Amino acid sequence: MKTMPINGATRLYAIVGMPVTHSLSPVMQNAAFRSTGINGAYVPVPSEDIEKTVQGLRALGFGGASVTIPHKETVMACVDRLDPVAREIGAVNTLAFEQHPDTGEVVCVGYNTDWMGSNLALAKEIELKGSSALVLGAGGAAKAVAFGLLEAGASKVFLANRTLQKAVALAEELGSDFVSLADIDQVDADILINTTSVGMTPHIDNSLVPKEYLSRYAVVMDIVYAPLETRLLKEAKASGCRTVDGLAMLYYQGLAQFKIWTGVEPPVSVMRDALLQELERRQ
Ligand code: ATR
Repeated sequence: MKTMPINGATRLYAIVGMPVTHSLSPVMQNAAFRSTGINGAYVPVPSEDIEKTVQGLRALGFGGASVTIPHKETVMACVDRLDPVAREIGAVNTLAFEQHPDTGEVVCVGYNTDWMGSNLALAKEIELKGSSALVLGAGGAAKAVAFGLLEAGASKVFLANRTLQKAVALAEELGSDFVSLADIDQVDADILINTTSVGMTPHIDNSLVPKEYLSRYAVVMDIVYAPLETRLLKEAKASGCRTVDGLAMLYYQGLAQFKIWTGVEPPVSVMRDALLQELERRQ
């Protein structure tokens, strides 16, 4: 594989979180730097203290960072400027250190590209405007996905979650609907999205949706990517649904980050192939 030399002009980018050892993002972002010829490198930065980490990145002249668990909410207090959508979602997964063109002052801006990731992945398969969806889960991922759907003009978004109260609270916050997991057979929607960890290795035989309910959905997406074809996706395919796997949201949110940092159109297939190769290597 072609390697990019690290030299005096290399701009650094980071993934900040705890843990970050298993993150797939470095492979994806470094492939994008190599392929576009942009002199950048993306490195893991384990962080217990997000405030100090952001100060450190700024002092070291980093160009930007991805932010992951457990800092997506707390990092909001460490930025100079918050993108309005990130503010509305209540989470930041992307930092950009941007230089003011006149004063030269560096400002740290917080964005959220998770919702863009799911929207871009789903929009490949279905027109989101006017569509309806059932979202399984009520955590951070569910919030980004449901927010994205509403932002894109979905007509109705139902949230279903093991702990119903969390789905009720999130539905109230987003102005969407909720349903108990036991009643999802009552829901009629175009899109089904699993944002929970159900089906993830080693529990690959688990799925929250009985297969006889799947044929009603045009598109089924799972954010779990290990395995790439979860039981839910396998059964959805067999039921005639179009499916979107868990890598799609990951690389589309990463594509959006690359664009924010470099202003350059990201190399879609290069980034996806890099992820696939890395997953294969790890198996
Ligand atoms: P994230 O921020 O990545 O979405 P999270 O906040 O931990 O992660 O949310 C995980 C989601 O998966 C939750 O909706 C959780 O349901 P609870 O709110 O009831 O905990 C859901 N989840 C995890 N394991 C599950 C299981 N075995 N069955 C059903 N739902 C599960």
